[in-house]
Amino acid sequence: MNSSNTCRVCGNEISPFMSFGKMPIANGFLNEIDFKNEYFFEMKPSFCENCFAFQLIDQPDAPMMFNENYPFFSSLSKHMQVHFKNFADQLISNFLRTKEDSFVIELGSNDGIMLKHFKNSGIPHLGIEPSKNVADVAKKEGINTISEFFNENLADHILEKHGKANIIFAANVMCHIPDLNSVFAGIAKLLTEDGILAFEDPYLGDMLEKVSYDQIYDEHIYIFSASSVSSLCERHDLELIDVIPQPTHGGSMRYFITHKGSHKISKNVHQILENEEKNGFKDPTTYIRFKNNCEQSKKDLVSLLEKIKSEKKRVVGYGATSKSTTILNYSGIGNDLIEFISDTTPLKQNKYSPGAHIPVRSYEEFKKNPPDYALLFAWNHSNEIFEKEKDFEKNGGKWIRFVPKVEIF
Ligand code: SAH
Ligand code: TMP
Ligand code: ZN
Repeated sequence: MNSSNTCRVCGNEISPFMSFGKMPIANGFLNEIDFKNEYFFEMKPSFCENCFAFQLIDQPDAPMMFNENYPFFSSLSKHMQVHFKNFADQLISNFLRTKEDSFVIELGSNDGIMLKHFKNSGIPHLGIEPSKNVADVAKKEGINTISEFFNENLADHILEKHGKANIIFAANVMCHIPDLNSVFAGIAKLLTEDGILAFEDPYLGDMLEKVSYDQIYDEHIYIFSASSVSSLCERHDLELIDVIPQPTHGGSMRYFITHKGSHKISKNVHQILENEEKNGFKDPTTYIRFKNNCEQSKKDLVSLLEKIKSEKKRVVGYGATSKSTTILNYSGIGNDLIEFISDTTPLKQNKYSPGAHIPVRSYEEFKKNPPDYALLFAWNHSNEIFEKEKDFEKNGGKWIRFVPKVEIF
């Protein structure tokens, strides 16, 4: 367990502003025989008043979450494929002068969803992906990948073997890594003088506004704001030079970072820092409000599901997302209220959801026996899902969502 009562970024004392209770490994889909050995930790978020890092007090050790059984394959989502193609194109056209003489590194490259575009353009590249099963998919496609956890030590090895990188990027990875000082120290060493670090993660602003507390689970030890990222950069002589909001994962932010003074700072940065200050991101009472909103959201969802149950209607979960682990365990929702969860990932199917132990079934079962209500756990993929599920709606099926508020639609 990685446990800390001081801020992992700046060392300031921190304390939890709420507890979501006992949580299992969010992606730890399991068989019945493993129920009795299931691992739980108490999920308590906190907020550092000094460097503004929103973080968990406790996080399970990294190899418990990222290993050869990691069930999240990025390329399963068509929309994310398009998103990462655009991200790759943007980096290639804006930040690479020549293709062959460049070197790019991706942290958490998963099954190669983004790095394949660099490989296909003949750009020297390296993916760092500790979860061996997903890394193997990328390797099979000819994408250079090493199965390790990135930190300063690994950065030293890469530097020795490959030299400096023009671009380092990461999507939905930085917020997973507890020792950000080690990561940023490594990146500062690895980046060429005019090199760029581009990373994106779920944005604190979206989470506070939409009460999408399901963004918080074991893997997501941080939920970043521009204020917290900027403060982290300063500690490593790096500088936040641009931010671009992204619609992915329910509202994300892409951060561009360089060595101090090497690039012009966009006015977006000044604007977002001002907005965050104005909107109370640095004010502890904001987090008390968030806590109250989470409690209300949980009550509303449970009472809606209980009402549906009393009407003898069927509810099936749509998407056994890691995020749904937080919703189900915090709200105490089990198999009595949800018949099964439908998911397209073979590794999750015919297992049980972490903690709540709701059966996970294939998408075909959803199609074969559509429920009265589908609880939209994969709400961040709404567009992709609604395109696919016109028939479900036509046949009278209804959706339940809980973000930005609990409702049937
Ligand atoms: N970039 C992909 C995958 C995100 S899932 C996407 O956005 O879809 C997060 C990934 O980060 C996992 O594949 C996990 O194995 C990897 N990861 C976790 N800790 C890491 C670390 N210290 N260094 C590099 N990758 C890490
Ligand atoms: P994510 O929210 O972490 O991207 O995970 C999405 C999960 O939802 C993943 O397990 C796949 C599943 N899913 C479906 O079952 N059907 C779908 O149409 C989509 C888009 C995702
Ligand atoms: Zn701090």
